[in-house]
Amino acid sequence: MKITNSYSFHGKLSVPGDKSISHRGIMFGAISNGLTEITNFLQGADCLSTISCFQKLGIPIENNGSSVLVHGKGLHGLRAPSQILDVGNSGTTTRLISGILAGQAFKTTLDGDNSIRKRPMQRIFTPLSQMGANFQCWDSTSFPASRERCNSGCAPFTICGGHLKGVHYHSTVASAQVKSAILLAGLYAEDDTSVTEPVLSRNHTELMLSGFGARITSAGTTASIKPEPVLNGQKIHVPGDISSAAYFIALGLLTPNSEILIENVGVNPTRSGILNIALAMGGDLTLLNKRTVSGEPVADILVRSSNLYGTTVGGAMIPTLIDEIPVIAVMAAFAEGTTVIQDAQELKVKESDRIAVVTENLKAMGASIVPTEDGMIIEGGRPLQGAVIHTCQDHRIAMSFTVAGLNACGETILDDEQCAAISYPSFYEDIKSLSL
Ligand code: S3P
Repeated sequence: MKITNSYSFHGKLSVPGDKSISHRGIMFGAISNGLTEITNFLQGADCLSTISCFQKLGIPIENNGSSVLVHGKGLHGLRAPSQILDVGNSGTTTRLISGILAGQAFKTTLDGDNSIRKRPMQRIFTPLSQMGANFQCWDSTSFPASRERCNSGCAPFTICGGHLKGVHYHSTVASAQVKSAILLAGLYAEDDTSVTEPVLSRNHTELMLSGFGARITSAGTTASIKPEPVLNGQKIHVPGDISSAAYFIALGLLTPNSEILIENVGVNPTRSGILNIALAMGGDLTLLNKRTVSGEPVADILVRSSNLYGTTVGGAMIPTLIDEIPVIAVMAAFAEGTTVIQDAQELKVKESDRIAVVTENLKAMGASIVPTEDGMIIEGGRPLQGAVIHTCQDHRIAMSFTVAGLNACGETILDDEQCAAISYPSFYEDIKSLSL
C-alpha cells in the first residue's frame, strides 16, 4: 500500500470494539450459565480466533457480524476438542484460554501462526503448573506432522488440565494475560488463588468476571479469586478500543488543520496512558461526555492539531499504554526535543520485537532514534521522508506507520497493510472517511 502526505483530517468516528474486552466476553460467556449477548464486538481476526476455539470446545456461538450470542454451558460445560485449537496471531487467546483449560479434565493442544510460535508461554506454564496443570511443548518445525517433544516454552503445546490447587503467585511481569490466566484457573482450584504483579496491568478481567458473578477482589497490585462460583450470562456492550483510537489521536495531533472527534472510547485508567502522554507532549485533547458502560469508563475524545514536545514514558505508566508505544514513538519523531521510552522491555515479546521494528522503520524514514534494552530514545523534530516499511505482519506497526506516512514527505510503502485486520479491519476506510 502506498501512502502520501495528507493535508488535514476532519470529522467524527467510532473505532471498533475493544479487543481485550471482546475476548473476555466470549471466554467468560462460554463458562457461564445461559446466554451472553455481546454488542459492538470486535470482528478482528484475534477475537474471531477466540470464538473458533470455544466453538471447538463445544460452545454454540452465533456471530451476526456485529453482536455475538454465546450459549454458555457453565463452569464445567466445555468438552474435549477433536482438533488442535488454532489461536492464530492472538497472545490473549493463547494465554487466557490456557487458564481455563488448566482446570479441565482433558487434554488440549494449541497452535498458532509464526509470531505466536515465538511468544513466551513459560510465564503462564510456571504458575499454572504450580496449580497442578501439565504442559508439553512440541517442536514447531515438524508439527503437526509429527510430535517431537521440546522445551521451547512456546506454541505448539498441549495442556493436560485437571485437579488444581490455589496459589499466591508473585508475577515478575506486569501482564494482564498472565494475571488473567491464573485467575481463570483459580475458578477451578480447590481453594483461593491470588496474583500480585509488580505494577498494575489492565483490570478488565477483574471488572467483567465480577459482573458474571465471580467472587473476585483487588487490593493494590493483588487480585484474588474464590473457586467454584456460579457464573451467569450477561449483556455486554463493548466500548471502542483506546488502542485503536490511539492512531486517530496521533493523526489529529500531528496533521495540521485537523480536528477529530472519536466517540465511545473506553478510558479505563489501566488503559488510558496514551491520553496522559498526549497531554504531556502538549496535545490539544479533551474528554467529553464521560460515562460508565458495562462497568467500564467511556468518553468521547476530541483531538486538534498541536505542536508536540518530547517527554519521558516509563515506570508504572508502561502497562497502561504498552500497545500504544509504536504510535507514541511516531508522535515523538515529529515532536520537538527528546523522548525517552524506558521500562518497556515487554515490547520485545509482542507480535513482533517492537523495539527493533519501530527503530528500523523510523530510521528508514530519517528519524533520529536509538534502541535501548528497555525502550528507545528519539530526538524529534526532523521532517520524516517516505520509505518502505517492514510491518513484520504486526498490526500495530502497520497502523502506526500509516500515521507516520500520512505526515511524511514523499511516498511511504507498507509491505503488508492487511495485518491491520488483526485488531482493526476497517482502519483504512475510517482514515479515508476523515480526509478532506
Ligand atoms: C492484553 C494484555 C496486554 C496487551 C495485549 C492484550 C489483554 O498484554 O499487550 O494486546 O487483553 O490482556 P500483556 O498483558 O501480556 O502485557
